[in-house]
Amino acid sequence: MNKSPEVAAVDFNDENSNTSSNPTFDSVLAARLSRRGLLRGGVGTVGTALLGGFSVAACGGSDDAATAPEEKLLGFNAVAKSLADAVIVPAGYTASVLYALGDPLSAATGAYKNDGTDTGFEDRAGDHHDGMEWFGLSSDGKLSATATERGLLAVNHEATTDEKLSSFFMHANGGTSTLPRPASEIDKEVAAHGISVVEVKKTAGKWATVQSSPFNFRLTPLSEIEISGPARGSALMITKFSPTGTKTRGTLNNCGTGKTPWGTFLTGEENWFGYFTRSSTDDAARGNDKSVTALNRYGRAQGAASRHGWESGGSADKYARWINGKLGTSANGSDDYRNEMNGMGFIVEIDPLDKSKSAKKRTGLGRFAHESAAFGIPVVGQPLVVYMGDDARNEYMYKYVSTALWSAADANPADRMATGDKYLDNGKLYVAKYNADGSGQWIELTIANAAIANYAGYKFADQADVLVNARIAGDAVGATKMDRPEWGGVNPANGEIYQTLTNNSNRRVDPSGSSQVAPDAANPRVYTDMKGSTAQLGNPNGHLLRMKEGAAGGSATSFTWDIYLFGAESGADKGMVNISSLTADQDFSSPDGLVFSPSTGICWIQTDDGAYTDVTNCMMLAAIPGKVGDGAKKTLSYTKADGSKLDVATNVGQAPTASTLKRFLVGPVGCEITGLCETPDGKAMFVNIQHPGETTSQANIGDPAKYTSQWPTNAGYGAGKRPRSATIVITKNDGGRIGS
Ligand code: FEO
Ligand code: CA
Ligand code: CA
Ligand code: CA
Repeated sequence: MNKSPEVAAVDFNDENSNTSSNPTFDSVLAARLSRRGLLRGGVGTVGTALLGGFSVAACGGSDDAATAPEEKLLGFNAVAKSLADAVIVPAGYTASVLYALGDPLSAATGAYKNDGTDTGFEDRAGDHHDGMEWFGLSSDGKLSATATERGLLAVNHEATTDEKLSSFFMHANGGTSTLPRPASEIDKEVAAHGISVVEVKKTAGKWATVQSSPFNFRLTPLSEIEISGPARGSALMITKFSPTGTKTRGTLNNCGTGKTPWGTFLTGEENWFGYFTRSSTDDAARGNDKSVTALNRYGRAQGAASRHGWESGGSADKYARWINGKLGTSANGSDDYRNEMNGMGFIVEIDPLDKSKSAKKRTGLGRFAHESAAFGIPVVGQPLVVYMGDDARNEYMYKYVSTALWSAADANPADRMATGDKYLDNGKLYVAKYNADGSGQWIELTIANAAIANYAGYKFADQADVLVNARIAGDAVGATKMDRPEWGGVNPANGEIYQTLTNNSNRRVDPSGSSQVAPDAANPRVYTDMKGSTAQLGNPNGHLLRMKEGAAGGSATSFTWDIYLFGAESGADKGMVNISSLTADQDFSSPDGLVFSPSTGICWIQTDDGAYTDVTNCMMLAAIPGKVGDGAKKTLSYTKADGSKLDVATNVGQAPTASTLKRFLVGPVGCEITGLCETPDGKAMFVNIQHPGETTSQANIGDPAKYTSQWPTNAGYGAGKRPRSATIVITKNDGGRIGS
């Protein structure tokens, strides 16, 4: 969810707890770009080996005439911006609803009535479909890298559409907006979070879920999950539920995803902090020890109220665990849930083909507001690399590098979770620092680093403490503050890393207060964008940057980087706002989801916007990117209030053409477009429509005419008129690949 920056009061998706004095990415970029030319590589060729039919014409510079394209990519007609309550795809394509909130996952579960009376979400699709991955199934039910008509979708269910505590579409009367809340409402809401795995199958040309599939399952915030990796058994993990600190309950606010090279699902726990509460006297109860520092740094100051009031359901342990307070008398926390938040905020690995195997929190990848987990291209004999962003204002970029070297035999192992132990439980976690000269460093977060071991802001006990409080370790080594990194992706053509940065309402030519920052090279735009009569200040439309690893590849500790694309309205000034010269067929705001197609190499960009939504609903674009350094230097000139000049130098990637960036899809009212996976032939694409109708007021429950969306019922799917998050499947009518 990404509410308009001028509207949001309490937005659990827009946290800012980084009060460290580390430089912002913007300030170092400003300094670096004052030196010309470091990124001025020529427009190079895009590798074709991995991309199959990648269009030479669309590459903008390939000189390899021998690799003739088999089909032109981005050959479709762009979809126009739209405010319709519908999913719109190009002519020649079909989008069908496949799997919506509440759909049954067992033979014994009834159809979703969609009137607020449904229960049993442990056997139904959860809400707010987000990141998603495809796992092909062979005819004998084994993992298949080539299956194209049968597979499992592993789907994140990030959150619920809520207002004043209640997930209002889930309750007949909109639910209870005051504390305490009824246990019956809480139990439904909890069970609608987490992940689902659902079998999907194409029969007679039509995709459908398999309701009775033995593969189907849910993980919810109450499912037992193992703590794995360096923090397993740490004192920080001790709770009443797990006095040995080896397990916890549930996964929560699951946002971006990843797919391991050995065939398991990775899910990122993002805005989990908002679900916990702390009393207004908890700091003193803890003796103002270092746990208070950590809790503040992770978004839970004492007195913080929880998003849903789940702690108020009664005395049972499943409600009490949401009170992240020192209530007991034990020295180690084994009699309360003072440490409960330390069990959230990880990349969690799940074997989608074997629900009997416990999911594992991979603590080696650090604890923060995780989005996606994007693997670098695996190379036999080299470590595996995972790129990750921390989506909160002013947080950091990370990568994990495995100790084990990649073995091709592990691509299809007998025990997938054991393979996860091998690659994800032993490795190094790095945080990114962006230098002014266009280079960057990956700084290892290790207790062996004196800057961490001796950090004045927090006394780290051991390496587990460093990983559990990775943000603080990042502070200690001077990591670069970023503007809300959402999804990242790795270009299969060349291994470069693409990263969305969604927007920033706090940028000003004349900043005031601690939260506002001046424009600089990486965030050079300050402008006023009108949304109706509301002035949206700062940089409302967001941008994307990219990185290229040094000569050592994924294990390099240095990299180069530039800015790929700026979001903007096409009619905005091309000098100061629409710097990428986006046309009406390309303009977008607030990039969030980003996935490279393994089939076509297309970079799919999805939006979660509140700024341009007076003109268009959220969307998805297809892009054929160039490479780091293919652009040019540019300077934006501002005049400060005191009359002095503020020149901001920046460096943008080569501007897109009609052949390299095109809008492919626009969603229904109030939605976010997120999550994307494909069959291996690229001919069926699965995309999630998250929270249509989110802009509905809870007070209007019971009056469908006042729901801002009635999708997907208005698309002929399912009962009732309440809007539902859902997975759609997109196919091309001529049977071709999606995006061709
Ligand atoms: Fe769940 Fe930052 O998106
Ligand atoms: Ca506008
Ligand atoms: Ca997101
Ligand atoms: Ca977002």
